Amino acid sequence: MELNLNKLTKQYGSKLAVDRVTLTLQPGLTALLGANGSGKTTLLRMIVDIIKPTSGEIFYDGKNIMKLKEQYLCDIGYMPQHLGMYPNFKVEEFLYYMATLKGLKKSYAKIQIDKLLHKVNLEEKRHHKIKTLSGGMYQRLGIAVCLLNDPKIVILDEPTAGLDPKERMNFKNLISSISQDKIVILSTHIVSDISEIADRIMIMKDGSIISYDRPEVLLKEMEGKVYALTVPNDNVVNYEKYTIVNRKVGREETYLHLLSDEKIEGATLLTPDLNDLYLYHFKDGEEF
Ligand SMILES: Nc1ncnc2c1ncn2[C@@H]1O[C@H](COP(=O)(O)OP(=O)(O)OP(=O)(O)O)[C@@H](O)[C@H]1O
Ligand SMILES: [Mg+2]
Repeated sequence: MELNLNKLTKQYGSKLAVDRVTLTLQPGLTALLGANGSGKTTLLRMIVDIIKPTSGEIFYDGKNIMKLKEQYLCDIGYMPQHLGMYPNFKVEEFLYYMATLKGLKKSYAKIQIDKLLHKVNLEEKRHHKIKTLSGGMYQRLGIAVCLLNDPKIVILDEPTAGLDPKERMNFKNLISSISQDKIVILSTHIVSDISEIADRIMIMKDGSIISYDRPEVLLKEMEGKVYALTVPNDNVVNYEKYTIVNRKVGREETYLHLLSDEKIEGATLLTPDLNDLYLYHFKDGEEF
């Protein structure tokens, strides 16, 4: 199973939101990392065929999705960035409603709903109204809706937004458990959400994918760029030209964790992690 994006481009007026993205996606979890406004949602909405590209194509196992139409959409599960689920519906009722919209047969819908309520750990909430769910439960219901049609391609746009650390961890395990035999793309700006579970990482900046590879390959490229050192407090100013990942200010000295392309005298090299990688690409003061 393969999804090929070929020079996929989206222009909104004079704004080039996605710029000639060309890449191949395979089963496993691909994390899409990028700052606000970098084009993540636009790219994902083109993949799920909600918006049409200005130019470029998408091929699913070699066939243009414009020709496959419904056949392609049947294989897609999408969890949008801003979930709008009816607050007065009960959990199970909403799942049946969505199953009908997705064209599932009643008997198949029942099997799927029972299975998914178990998978997302909402069995006990089956007869509760959506408005009574916690943030984490609400997001898990969103995942269940997305998986109703047993999609082969799962697109999750910032699914962990608004979750607390424990909910984040549960959600991470859930996503990891569905990623084996599906093409899963998960966009986020929270690096820890995808560390250890991403098979591939895409970094998007200003509409382009500037990096796309296995995490270990991307981290290898960061080797020799991550430093730690402790300096007298009044000397910190000399290091502000670097990207400071972390600083711990003591009474007289400050510990600095920095990113630099050039060697920093007297500093110790650290093993890069994904947070270093992300900040390296968004060091120019972009909001994220
Ligand atoms: N319908 C639209 N009309 C005009 N401009 C748009 C539209 N949708 C998005 N944009 C612009 O395209 C760019 C990419 O937006 P997009 O929502 O894809 O970014 P994003 O990476 O998902 O951001 P975020 O992290 O905030 O969700 C932004 O500059 C945005 O303002
Ligand atoms: Mg977005």
